[in-house]
Order: sequence, then C-alpha cells, then structure tokens
Amino acid sequence: MISRFSKLFLAVAVLLIFITSIAVIHPPVRAYVDPWTQTMFGEDGVESRHELHVAAEKGEVIMPKLGNATAKAELGRATWKLLHTMTLRFPDKPTDDQRHALESYFYLFSRLYPCGECAKEFQQLLKKYPPQTSSRKTASLWLCYVHNLVNARLGKPEFDCLKLDETYDCGCGPEGNSTSAVGPKRDDITGVEVVRGG
Ligand SMILES: Cc1cc2nc3c(=O)[nH]c(=O)nc-3n(C[C@H](O)[C@H](O)[C@H](O)COP(=O)(O)OP(=O)(O)OC[C@H]3O[C@@H](n4cnc5c(N)ncnc54)[C@H](O)[C@@H]3O)c2cc1C
Ligand SMILES: *[C@@H]1O[C@H](CO)[C@@H](O)[C@H](O)[C@H]1NC(C)=O
Ligand SMILES: *[C@@H]1O[C@H](CO)[C@@H](O)[C@H](O)[C@H]1NC(C)=O
Repeated sequence: MISRFSKLFLAVAVLLIFITSIAVIHPPVRAYVDPWTQTMFGEDGVESRHELHVAAEKGEVIMPKLGNATAKAELGRATWKLLHTMTLRFPDKPTDDQRHALESYFYLFSRLYPCGECAKEFQQLLKKYPPQTSSRKTASLWLCYVHNLVNARLGKPEFDCLKLDETYDCGCGPEGNSTSAVGPKRDDITGVEVVRGG
C-alpha cells in the first residue's frame, strides 16, 4: 500500500521533472522572420550581448515620467523616424567598431529617452531582444520587430516590415537609394523584378 504522502510526493516529483524537461527541450527562442524569404534569422546565430562595453550603457533610466500624452506621441513619432532612418542607412557590411557603435547607441538610448516610463519598457525589450547589428538588413528588421512589439503593447496595428524601404526613403542622396539591401528589387538568380508586399 502506498501512503497518501508517498503518492503526493511522487506526483510532485513527476510534475517537477516534466517542467524541467520542457525548459530544457524548448529553451526560449529569439528569432526574427525575414519578410522576404520567410526564413528565420538570429535563431541559432542570435547575437546576444555577453558583456557591456561601458558602464554607462547598463544603468537605470535617467529621465522622469513624461505625463503629457500629446507630447509623448509627438516625441515617439519623431524618434521612430530617427531610429528607422538610422538602421536603414547603416552599412550593409559594418565593421566591428560600427556594430559596437550602433549597439551602444541603443543601450544608451534606452537610458536617456526623454519619456522615462517608455524607456523602462524599452530596457525590458532590449533584455529579451538584444540589438542585431550584423548588417543593415538585420538591424532594420530587428528595429521593425521591436517597434511592432511596442505597437502591440499600445494596441496599435502591426506594421508590415516589407514596407520599410518605401516608408523611410529619406531621399538622402547617393546613398539614399541603397536601402535596397533590405529587399532586392530583382531576384538574384532570375533577374526578374520582385514585387514587394505582393
Ligand atoms: C522606444 C519607444 C518607447 C515608447 N514607449 C511608449 C510607451 O510606453 N507608452 C506610450 O504611450 N508611448 C510610447 N512610445 C510612443 C509610441 O510608440 C508612438 O510613437 C506614439 O504613440 C505615436 O504613435 P503613432 O500611432 O503615431 O505611430 P508610431 O508608433 O510613432 O510610428 C510612426 C510611424 O512609423 C511607422 N511604423 C509603425 N510601426 C512601425 C514598425 N514596426 N517599423 C517601422 N515603421 C513603423 C508608421 O508609418 C507610423 O505611422 C514609445 C516610443 C519609443 C520610440
Ligand atoms: C502637452 O504637450 C503638447 C505638445 O507638446 C502641448 O501643446 C500642450 O500644451 C501640453 N499640455 C500640457 C497640459 O502641458
Ligand atoms: C542610385 O543608385 C544608382 C546605382 O545603384 C546610381 O547610379 C544612382 O545615381 C543613384 N541615384 C541617386 C539619386 O543617388
């Protein structure tokens, strides 16, 4: 006869083993979907941040709460424009120094963004989804992805990351039309025009 206590003990042990095995078999995945190819990137090659380069990058949020909702929205729109334009002009093949610069920028940004309560949320996002900086495409899709997470939290519609190029065509001159690294206008193999978003 198994006592009630032993039964309970067994049940708890089985439950614990079950939970542990789920954690081991399904570690949290950080993956981003390339909207052109539908392939995942960053899944096994995900760039995680192993060390913080300067102490200033890892501190607490500096700015106080920004109460005024109108000001908060205006600041947000202007900021997203800056950030997306930045990643879409980032080099296709950045050097280590350039990658480090972009990564540091986002960590410092997450402390100094003038809306303190937004900055706190963004720091949490960066912990889960560290900046991806290996190329222009990677950086701009990563930013599009995290902006969509902010959209979701605020109940805003999801943005189609295929439309990054047309939305942020900055008309910046010689380099201005080179964001096509994000999505080839021609199929590399067939040379056929690719209809994006179609
Ligand atoms: C880091 C950060 C954190 C924020 N946190 C908060 C917060 O906690 N609470 C709060 O109330 N507000 C927050 N905001 C502001 C908020 O995100 C919006 O900017 C603001 O509400 C205005 O929204 P909007 O509808 O005009 O579009 P926005 O989100 O400002 O976007 C501007 C334009 O960018 C384009 N866009 C939308 N989604 C994407 C995407 N995924 N990729 C590329 N382009 C896109 C669209 O054309 C859109 O009209 C935050 C802003 C930033 C930059
Ligand atoms: C809120 O911000 C807007 C835009 O900056 C400004 O016009 C308005 O006067 C502010 N409201 C208050 C109550 O300060
Ligand atoms: C756009 O890029 C092409 C080459 O890819 C170049 O010949 C052209 O001058 C560029 N246009 C502008 C406006 O910079």
